[in-house]
Amino acid sequence: MGYDARFRVWRGDTEGGGLQDFTVLANDGEVVLDIIHRLQATQAPDLAVRWNCKAGKCGSCSAEVNGRPKLLCMTRMSTFTEDEIITVTPLRTFPVIRDLVTDVSFNYEKAREIQAFTPPPGLGPGEYRMKQVDVQRSQEFRKCIECFLCQNVCHVVRDHEENKQAFAGPRYLMRIAELDMHPLDVAERRETAQNEHGLGFCNITKCCTEVCPENIKITDNALIPMKERVADRKYDPLVWLGNKLFRR
Ligand code: SF4
Ligand code: F3S
Ligand code: FES
Repeated sequence: MGYDARFRVWRGDTEGGGLQDFTVLANDGEVVLDIIHRLQATQAPDLAVRWNCKAGKCGSCSAEVNGRPKLLCMTRMSTFTEDEIITVTPLRTFPVIRDLVTDVSFNYEKAREIQAFTPPPGLGPGEYRMKQVDVQRSQEFRKCIECFLCQNVCHVVRDHEENKQAFAGPRYLMRIAELDMHPLDVAERRETAQNEHGLGFCNITKCCTEVCPENIKITDNALIPMKERVADRKYDPLVWLGNKLFRR
C-alpha cells in the first residue's frame, strides 16, 4: 500500500540554498533513495543526488536524514511514521556542490597523506608470509566502503573547520592503525599518527562507530589500541626499545 510521504529536501549550491517541501508517493518496502528518485522523476528533475549501487556497498549516497548521517539507499521508509516530515540534507562537514551532493575531496587528500603499505626491503611479491591471526586482526577494517559518514560526524572537524588541516579523521586513523598492526609493514606509524595525522584530537566520543554502516568498531578496535601503542612508545622506554629491536 502506498501513501503520501512528506519530504523536506535541501536545494541549493555553493551560493546558498534552503529546504523545499514535497509530498511524494512512498510504497511498501522502499528506501529514502527510492523517494528521492521518484522526486527526480516527477517533481524535481534537476535534483542532484550521488548514488551508484543501491545496495549499501559503494558508499556514494551518504547524506543526513533528520539530521543523522545515513546511506540513503539503506534507510528504510518503514523506520518513519507515515505522517512524519522526513528532512534530507547534504553531509554537513563537507562543502556543498549542489543539492544533496557534497565535495568529499578532503577525504581523498587525507588518504594520500598516509604512507602506503611498506614491506621490508628485499621481500618480493609471493614471499609475503604471515599468520592467519594477524590477517584477521585487520580484516574488520577492510570492510570500509568509504562512505565518509564517520568523517562527517566526528565533532573534531564537523564543528571546527580549522582542524581539517591537522586531523585525518576516523576513517584514515583506522587505516593507519590497520597498517601499524600489519606484521610486514615496516614504516613508522605511531609518531606520525600523533604528530602528522592528529590522533590526539580524538577524544573517543565514538560517534564515528555509531554511524558506520559496516558496523566497524572504529573506536574500540582501531583508535583506542592505536592510542595505547602511541602512549607505550612515548612513555615506556622498554617497550620503545623492544619495538625498535623486534618490531612488535
Ligand atoms: Fe563509512 Fe565505516 Fe568506512 Fe567510516 S569506517 S568511511 S563510516 S564504512
Ligand atoms: Fe571523532 Fe570517533 Fe574520535 S567521532 S573524536 S574519531 S572516537
Ligand atoms: Fe551505494 Fe547507497 S548507492 S551505498
